[in-house]
Amino acid sequence: MASTTFNIFDTLKTRSVLEVFALIPRVIGFMWRSAPLLLAATSVLRVIAAVTPAIMLWFMKVIVDRVVESLGSPIDWFYILLPIFVITAIRLGNALLSQLNSIWTHILTERVYSSAHAQLLDKAGSLDIAFFEAPQFYDRLTQARRNIFRIQSVADGVPRFLQQFLSLAAVFGLLTILHPLAVLLLIVMTLPRIYYEGYTARRRFDMETEMIRNYRSSDYYGDLPTQREKIKEIRIFGLKQFLVDRFFKFRDIIVRTIIKLNIRFLKLDLSINNLPTIGIALIWAYAVYRTALGELSVGSLTMVVTAAQTAVTSLQGLIGSGGRLFQNTLFITRFFELLDLDPKSISGALEPPRAKSPIKVPSPIRRGIELKNVSFVYPGTEAEILKDVSFSIPVGTKLAIVGENGAGKTTLIKLLVRFYDPTTGSVSLDRVDYRDYELQDIRGSISAVFQDFVHYHLSASDNIGIGNVKHLTNRDVILDASKKAGAHEFVSKLPKEYDTILGKTFDEGVDLSGGEWQNLAIARAFMSESQILFLDEPTAALDAFGEAALYDRFARLTENKTVIFISHRFSTVRMADTIVVVEDGRIIEQGSHEELMDLDGKYRLMFTTQAERYA
Ligand SMILES: Nc1ncnc2c1ncn2[C@@H]1O[C@H](COP(=O)(O)OP(=O)(O)O)[C@@H](O)[C@H]1O
Ligand SMILES: [Mg+2]
Repeated sequence: MASTTFNIFDTLKTRSVLEVFALIPRVIGFMWRSAPLLLAATSVLRVIAAVTPAIMLWFMKVIVDRVVESLGSPIDWFYILLPIFVITAIRLGNALLSQLNSIWTHILTERVYSSAHAQLLDKAGSLDIAFFEAPQFYDRLTQARRNIFRIQSVADGVPRFLQQFLSLAAVFGLLTILHPLAVLLLIVMTLPRIYYEGYTARRRFDMETEMIRNYRSSDYYGDLPTQREKIKEIRIFGLKQFLVDRFFKFRDIIVRTIIKLNIRFLKLDLSINNLPTIGIALIWAYAVYRTALGELSVGSLTMVVTAAQTAVTSLQGLIGSGGRLFQNTLFITRFFELLDLDPKSISGALEPPRAKSPIKVPSPIRRGIELKNVSFVYPGTEAEILKDVSFSIPVGTKLAIVGENGAGKTTLIKLLVRFYDPTTGSVSLDRVDYRDYELQDIRGSISAVFQDFVHYHLSASDNIGIGNVKHLTNRDVILDASKKAGAHEFVSKLPKEYDTILGKTFDEGVDLSGGEWQNLAIARAFMSESQILFLDEPTAALDAFGEAALYDRFARLTENKTVIFISHRFSTVRMADTIVVVEDGRIIEQGSHEELMDLDGKYRLMFTTQAERYA
């Protein structure tokens, strides 16, 4: 029984603060692998930048004290002015370093983004088709992608946090000259702020998770009118306003939620923000009091007064950074969750080979494919689409599958190329169950062209070559495949022949007719060295003669291969060695054209109906 629970979604729980911060080493590790030198360099610069404010403050104190000291005695100009030179030199150096830092950080960000995105693509590419049928998977993917940029913010936030921590510690050190309790006072006054940061970060994260469907919906409606393949219908049906309205409907939900959230944050913020100001006033009063008593130098007074202000600013900065660090790490959990996604965590996921050492797909294949009592229910649904299907495809056979729309023909092919495993029953190749082979090995022995094949906006040559990437640049092989598929004739008339870019995405792109795109898709199948080929109605846009001629050629050119094809044209179907008739998920007839005509059943009915229409 197919289960409808997608247990990949179990981890959608709020994480504790510690769990979130525990992710930081992983983020840093990730960055380190992406760009070690840049990460090291920017970190060093941050440490340098961290200690400068305290050093500057110290020199300010030195200046004031030296001036006060010199009053009434002969002036040593060098002695008095030296600290100013030092401060100026530090300032200049600092400006240079911060310039360097911003350049390096920019490059680092881009690097990290590239490798993070590449890992995401790699992961998505390794997941079973079943994931791509679950809307929840797209929720996850969207949220992960939206937040990739935060990896950099986390890694950037850690040294920033340490930097602010260091400078705060230094300023606190200066404040203890006045009284150690001054430090404690300021810390207590900012404690509510820590709570505030954690709370708002969590609420923002929860909001994005809750709103992700709305983000996706608005993106969907917003993207439709910008896509070339869609604009024909959008113009004809006058859908522009409809789509814009839908777009705004979802955006409005998001914006209203954000406003509500921020009003709540603002109220909270106003109630806690003024505490530190009171702390500063107390410290100032106490410092003035002690200076008046003569216990503190005027230089120290200036320093303490400034230090109290600086300490509060730093403290708030530190808490703000900590909050952002927490928030960014929280959001980035979605990225790592996706990388960690268990490929088996969805119903319909393919099982890994049962045997310890999987069996190799034989080459050449000797017997062929056999389906035994195959039934199939799409994961997450109830209806049985294939019902107790059994038939065999001996090696070298040209087998046609016919049946009405929705009969289950494409589903059958999906099982034969192992996008899915049967719910019950088995598919076997040379008497070995598909599930006992390594998946990659099966896919390597099979090639297929589907109804909804892709129009690659690449060169004509690449469009064919990707049928077998190892020959991507082998013009002879490509030319051969192109001729076999009947594509050579029109490709050689293109402005740059095989180097012409197809589609309208890129400069000088040329578009093809539906039939011409199909010829290219078939050429891809000819590139393949696979022993078994599947063609799922890739020729519907060819005219009847074009299709018949193509299949005729196809059958001759793939003599020793096993070819399984779906077509609605009986002029093509009749050429097959064996024809399988599917109705409502069952095989109702099978045999050669002659046998099925003699049977006088569904096949004969379909064949004669179509023949009459053409007559
Ligand atoms: N991914 C899917 N999830 C659930 N049901 C599906 C899916 N794909 C197809 N179906 C259902 O399976 C049935 C057979 O579809 P299909 O095999 O594509 O038919 P055919 O190729 O014969 O026209 C249809 O009723 C369709 O609604
Ligand atoms: Mg189909």
